[in-house]
Parts: sequence; C-alpha cells; structure tokens
Amino acid sequence: MFSFLNKNQSTGEVEELHLDEANIPAHVAIIMDGNGRWAQQRHLPRIAGHKQGMDTVKTVATAASHLGVKVLTLYAFSTENWKRPTAEVNYLMKLPVDFFGTFVPDLIKNNIRVKVMGYTDKLPAATQKAVRDAIADTANCTGMVLNFALNYGGRAEIVTAVQKLAEAVKAGKLDPAAIDEVAIDQQLMTADLAELRDPDLLIRTSGEERLSNFMLWQVAYSEFVFTQQHWPDFDQTALEQAIYEYQQRHRRFGGLTPAKG
Ligand code: FPP
Repeated sequence: MFSFLNKNQSTGEVEELHLDEANIPAHVAIIMDGNGRWAQQRHLPRIAGHKQGMDTVKTVATAASHLGVKVLTLYAFSTENWKRPTAEVNYLMKLPVDFFGTFVPDLIKNNIRVKVMGYTDKLPAATQKAVRDAIADTANCTGMVLNFALNYGGRAEIVTAVQKLAEAVKAGKLDPAAIDEVAIDQQLMTADLAELRDPDLLIRTSGEERLSNFMLWQVAYSEFVFTQQHWPDFDQTALEQAIYEYQQRHRRFGGLTPAKG
C-alpha cells in the first residue's frame, strides 16, 4: 500500500491518502510545462528553469519506477520548440547530454530502460550520441521504460505513419481496405511499446489545459490531470496526487460499465 500526505484543498487539513497498488496507471505521459515561468518568478534566466526541470525528471522518473509505472513518457522537446531563441534551443539540446552523462548509472540501478521517440536524426550530433549511448547502456533493463519525446510532434507522427502506409499500398504490399487502427498503431513511434502504447494518465503541469500536439492518437482514452505547479516544483507527492486523482476516475472506454485502467 502506497500512502502519502496530502493537503486538502477545501479544508486545508493534512490527510493521509492511500494509492491502490493494483490500479497504478501503466503508462503515464507528462507535458512538462512551466520551466520558464518558474525561472521568471525567481528573476533567473529561462534556462535556469530548464536545468531545474532536468533535476525534476530525475526525481519523477525514480518515483514513477518505484510506484510501479511501466512506461513514463516525457515531452522534452516538440517539433515546434525550434521557434524559440537559438540560445534556449541550444541549451535544451545540451540537457540530454548532461542528463544521461550523469544519470545513466542510477537508471541502471533502478532497472529503467531509455527509449526515445521523435525525429532524432534532426538533433545535433552530440545529442544524438547521448541518446544512442543511453539506449544502449540501458538496453538490458527490464523495469520501467523512460520514453523521451524529443523533436516530437503528434501531427507529424501521424503524417509519417500515413506516408508509410501509402508507400506500402503503392508497392502493392497493402490493401487500403486492410488499413485499420492496428495498422496505424504499428506505424506510430509508440509501436514498440505494444499493449502499453497508449497513456493511461496524461499530466500537464503549470496550469495550462491543452495538448500542444502531444500523442494526439494515443491519448484518445487517457485520463487527463492538470496541476498548478510549474514543472521544476513537481515532485513525488505531486505524482502520487495525480495518480490518486486518476484512481478516483471511472474509465469506460466508450461503454457504460467502468473498465479497469
Ligand atoms: C516547457 O516549459 C518545457 C520545455 C519546452 C522543455 C522541457 C524540458 C525539460 C523539463 C528538461 C528535459 C530534460 C531532459 C533530460 C531532456 P516552458 O519553457 O514552455 O515554460 P513556460 O511556459 O513557463 O515558458
């Protein structure tokens, strides 16, 4: 039984809440928002928020793995983030080098395997190498998958999948009538996650309530939890609170009776 202390928003009282270990969301996806605002509030440059955000990734990945989450997908850089000032983009591109350079031994200790989804061939060479090395170094880990969305966009992902299917049709290898949801699933960047491909729980920090082009296909039946904390302030308790909220929901997947998530 996982328990945590929660401050009740209405009464202000601290209460002990319990998580149902049998209903931990298998795939948790997070839109890590608010690094810039966190820094701004402290009169720091935006990149200070990203650096602190990287430390939060370490805390949350470790906590999720201990809670029994099987896949943790983190939106680290979108196909639209290239529009940011060059200095900020360059800093964001260095973060994986820093992160994997220091954290891979802990990932291995926690049996966490690294996966990346996105157009990684467009990343700087040093970033690509850091990612490749981390994937190779953790390849034998059998616990949680830590899936970084890097240069990822949900619409671009669907476009690429459609192009691949069209190529197969053109080559006479695929009948258009055979294109179904499974065929599309198999062309998406989550295909290798098999039955864990769709997030059960999607969290977005920092008060914004939008998807920002994240996993558009895969979140069709995900539960959404929006939190007020900026990402650098998110921690193990915040993750437990989000999972607690998830456990109060009744997932029906379009049917009438609650289905187990
Ligand atoms: C959104 O906050 C955050 C990002 C675009 C970057 C997220 C990256 C990290 C948290 C670090 C990732 C770590 C690794 C290991 C790759 P924002 O800058 O848009 O915040 P704002 O809306 O307050 O400006």
